[in-house]
Amino acid sequence: MASTIADCTDLFRKKLLGKTGKISEKTLEMHLGLYAIQVRRAKELLSSIEKDEPPSEDQIGGSPFRARKLDLSYCLSAAKSHELYFHVLGGAGGSPQGTLREWIDRDFGSLDRFLRDLRATALASDSWAWTCLDQASGRLINLLGDPRGAVPFWGSSPLLAVDMEDHAFLLDFGWDRAAYVDSLLGQLDWESVGRLLPLL
Ligand SMILES: [Fe+2]
Repeated sequence: MASTIADCTDLFRKKLLGKTGKISEKTLEMHLGLYAIQVRRAKELLSSIEKDEPPSEDQIGGSPFRARKLDLSYCLSAAKSHELYFHVLGGAGGSPQGTLREWIDRDFGSLDRFLRDLRATALASDSWAWTCLDQASGRLINLLGDPRGAVPFWGSSPLLAVDMEDHAFLLDFGWDRAAYVDSLLGQLDWESVGRLLPLL
């Protein structure tokens, strides 16, 4: 079976070089490299799993099959969160416009309240924070992904991702995680976030 997992490293590099503010080019390149490894590993795992017959019930417990499935879930989840993170970086921050702004105001009361909630969610996480649109209720929610590999709940569309693992900030901000989050929020590409909203 052919793998359909795409590596978007070059696309993100072209979009982001020189547009990440205090997040250095060195951190960006290291981070893109990490993402590329996750994509490659996900492809390898998927091919490896698809190559073999699924194990019988008595072969599952503690089997390499379980380990590969767990690893695949982690690598795919990490790759997709990184894709979202890179996708919404490289802007000038400021204020979102249009429907996105209307929905932020509707669900959080104000842009300031939304940003404070997102900032606190990120600082409370050792892994990821996401803004998601819950398709069932239609509202925006800021979610925390912790421990590593956790994904937003089913039936939601992730619109924005904040990477809170050490590799995202340590080189440029030391342990000042708040300075990193503030810098990141100032480099958001709100147009790209808005384009992820479902068509109305
Ligand atoms: Fe990362």
